[in-house]
Amino acid sequence: MATVPRQLITQRKIAEHVQRLGELYPPIPLDSVDRTIKRPDLVMDRFGHVIDYLARVELEVDRNVLELLVLLPDVDDTNKTFYADVWQPQEIQHGLILDRLQQDLGRQPADPHLSVSFKIKILGALASLKPVQDIAKLLYFLTGASTERQAVLAYNQINTGLRDLGETAISETIITPIKQQEPGHFAFYQMSATAMIQDKMLKPWQIFMTRVLREKSYNLVGTNNMRDFKADMGGVVIDLGIDADLEGYAREIGRVESRLLWAQRQGMDFPPYILKALKESVELYRERGLSMV
Ligand SMILES: [Fe+2]
Ligand SMILES: [Fe+2]
Repeated sequence: MATVPRQLITQRKIAEHVQRLGELYPPIPLDSVDRTIKRPDLVMDRFGHVIDYLARVELEVDRNVLELLVLLPDVDDTNKTFYADVWQPQEIQHGLILDRLQQDLGRQPADPHLSVSFKIKILGALASLKPVQDIAKLLYFLTGASTERQAVLAYNQINTGLRDLGETAISETIITPIKQQEPGHFAFYQMSATAMIQDKMLKPWQIFMTRVLREKSYNLVGTNNMRDFKADMGGVVIDLGIDADLEGYAREIGRVESRLLWAQRQGMDFPPYILKALKESVELYRERGLSMV
């Protein structure tokens, strides 16, 4: 069956992955960064908006941890070690380093959105029921997989752009070390979501509910279902050149859920709600540009 990978993903494998990430990638120290910027105006012009966006999203990791605790109060040891010892300490440094970079470029410090939304609180209240808890858990892992994949792709793109500009200090001491840490996060969520399906932890009605909720609540990374952030994300999509192939990008960031949730839909390249979210962001960004003229 398409949903079952050839190699079984055991809880032990996931735990070993988390341990390895912790050993391989300690949080990046602020003073490891070479703050040389050759042409700040050019970097700001080309990537200022993207750096602003990424700094804010990385700093919102503390809200993501709160959401996790609301949604999954009975979180197991592997998940606890991942968020407390690996993920949060790494992401917060990404945020602090990028926030300082944007201020070095003469931009405003990030203003992270740190309050947990009403929707998450409702889902959290319902998640005290075990069958809902499993749905929330799968949704949480799918969200993690999609957002971390977006981070991997964004850092790859921005790194290429900065190298083309000859900004080697930013590329080598900021973006490269950050981008090395993101694939491990993606792998954690991807393995965790896959294990839930492979172990048949959810009954068909729960999978159905997950699909419905995912379709209704899908958000691109850092948009928090807010109009302004969606428009900001549209700017990131354009600045990184992703708008040249939105479908290809939707395929990349939707691969895990395509395989795990929608395998029964023959010929579905990617879940349509992902492309819809991308188009909406780009439209909101363009609208904002027009209204500012
Ligand atoms: Fe990060
Ligand atoms: Fe990450």
